[in-house]
Amino acid sequence: MHVLVIGSGGREHALCWAIAKSPLCGRLSAVPGNGGIAEIATCLLLDPLDFAGITAFCRAENVGLVVVGPDAPLAEGIVDHLEAAGIKAFGPTAGAARLESSKGFTKDLCTDAGIPTARYQRFASAAAAMAYVKDHPLPVVIKADGLALGKGVIIATTRAEAEAAVSIMFAGEFGAAGHTVVIEEFLEGEEASFFVLSDGETALPLASAQDHKRAFDGDTGPNTGGMGAYSPAPVMTEAVTAQVMRAIITPTLDAMRAMGCPFKGVLYAGLMITATGPKLIEYNARFGDPEAQVLMLRLKSDLLPALIAAREGRLKEIALSWSEETAISVVMASRGYPGRYQKGSVIKGLDKAATLPNVTVFHAGTQRRSDGAVTANGGRVLNICATGSGIAEARGRAYDAVRLIDWPEGFCRNDIGWRALVRLEPKA
Ligand code: AMP
Ligand code: GLY
Repeated sequence: MHVLVIGSGGREHALCWAIAKSPLCGRLSAVPGNGGIAEIATCLLLDPLDFAGITAFCRAENVGLVVVGPDAPLAEGIVDHLEAAGIKAFGPTAGAARLESSKGFTKDLCTDAGIPTARYQRFASAAAAMAYVKDHPLPVVIKADGLALGKGVIIATTRAEAEAAVSIMFAGEFGAAGHTVVIEEFLEGEEASFFVLSDGETALPLASAQDHKRAFDGDTGPNTGGMGAYSPAPVMTEAVTAQVMRAIITPTLDAMRAMGCPFKGVLYAGLMITATGPKLIEYNARFGDPEAQVLMLRLKSDLLPALIAAREGRLKEIALSWSEETAISVVMASRGYPGRYQKGSVIKGLDKAATLPNVTVFHAGTQRRSDGAVTANGGRVLNICATGSGIAEARGRAYDAVRLIDWPEGFCRNDIGWRALVRLEPKA
């Protein structure tokens, strides 16, 4: 089968890496891919939002399955478009992807289905939102309704910050994403991400992960797409996982089906494990990045038949097995990210790093020059990943590999996995 992966990040490199191992995969292409994906797939210089161009390629090259990585094409209806053209595509329709593309949609669904989440109100006018934050307990969380590259969430700890957040959202800071604003209660607890594969009816739990969204050590600095992740998340015990499936995932999938929008694809639940149990922070309608990287490293089964079964409504037939090991991913980013950064610097040492035992390097924003050199071409550039019998071993291996990367223009966090490590230390 000819498989086409849409996207250009570390997530898509990990998906390509997993799919390329499948005996079912005869040929692998990517739109647009990156410098690492180019080693295992044919990369096409098309825009992931160019649905007509992608459709034409799929027809001409007999693509048997399109696997969509990022949120934007899903929200724009790439799966609806391809399926209408008779091309098989893995991922939710635009209607089902509203679980990610509209925070208000998800919050309303939670209310209707009794799913535990932060108490909230939705606002379409600045005046009403302003009045609401005037006496809301602090901290208060203010969110743009639509997709905002993970940046549309402000946690205000003072009244002045809360009012400023409302002002900038309605002033258009996040474009159309901020025309509607959700204001919600601040949840205390430990965050975890949990992933399921769904065919609309059956939900197959994948695995859990924890990521680090802030740019700098100690979880400080601006929010990013994610600076590192590890799987499993120790806070997701069997009991918590069962509760998440029963109270959050299953009622969500039931509600989507009842609405005529069955969710087929990967459902990524961002959770807060509070003193009173797990609560939903948000959904994403796709694999996380860098969470997919650590999930793929732990997946022992063939991914491709599971994706095909999810699309065809046959997930009941699928069982997946996972390594007991811990996997970790350390993101190396261009200096300046998530703000302005330079492109084009040369990265050396990649081959040396990849020869270390249990180490895998996934590329994100890289490009391969005609002379073979790998250059930085984006904000998040590399994922240095490793597995080990626990977080300490996996993390030690990943940072040993990081030290072999010769790229003065890049930086990474030095504390990925700290929460999991702290748990291991005896309490004082
Ligand atoms: P989101 O884009 O909704 O995932 O929010 C980004 C980050 O903001 C989350 O990963 C949390 O760390 C934080 N966050 C969002 N909503 C809340 C909330 N209600 N309480 C506490 N933290 C939150
Ligand atoms: N790592 C967070 C995300 O993929 O949304």
